[in-house]
Amino acid sequence: MSVNVITHPLVQHKLTLMRDKNTGPKDFRELLTEITILMFFEATKDLPLKEINIETPLKAMKSKVLEGKKLCIIPILRAGLGMAEAVLTIMPYVKFGHLGIYRNEETFKPVEYYVNIPYDLEERIVIIVDPMLATGGSAAYAVNLLKDKGAKKIKFLGLVAAPKGIDILQKTDPYVDIYIASIDESLNEKAYILPGLGDAGDRFYGTL
Ligand code: PRP
Ligand code: URA
Repeated sequence: MSVNVITHPLVQHKLTLMRDKNTGPKDFRELLTEITILMFFEATKDLPLKEINIETPLKAMKSKVLEGKKLCIIPILRAGLGMAEAVLTIMPYVKFGHLGIYRNEETFKPVEYYVNIPYDLEERIVIIVDPMLATGGSAAYAVNLLKDKGAKKIKFLGLVAAPKGIDILQKTDPYVDIYIASIDESLNEKAYILPGLGDAGDRFYGTL
């Protein structure tokens, strides 16, 4: 297990723009796409490669391609969907599942409302995408559900985490690699991340 805070200047710059309350839904969506692509590079830097024989216009050579089964991307709805769509722009052949979870407003516990997951997770690297890791309840629920469905290697790609969310996810499964752009200070009384960026789903879809 590892916790990777991606400090690349482009990631940090875009995160600042996303946090700003004056950033509207159009810019927020575009920034989420851009930052996800940048962070996805980091989250996939350990993918296995194999050599194949090809010919350039000038010469035969051995060259590297990805090895093994395609990745599976699992967005936690709603806000994770924007991140998953961004991944599709650079890896259009990934497998894609949907996991609908919302937080109960009083208990902050995750409530499942839609699950559509590829059946053959065993041999795939599974990457859960969700911008926010607050109490960690939604991500932990997703990890347990995916393990029940056979996933063996799971990564979590998000933007902003609270220390509690990181802690809960690590306790749920110490083998999940976490990629995040910031670990913020704390949670407020409504379990929102402080300073955070607000409600990611509402900002993405303009449902404020
Ligand atoms: C947000 C966010 C995560 C969850 C994180 O979703 O996108 O899924 O909260 O909080 P947690 O770590 O405390 O579980 P939300 O429940 O607001 O649903 P939405 O994306 O549909 O608005
Ligand atoms: N969900 C969000 O979208 N934002 C938070 O700060 C916490 C949960």
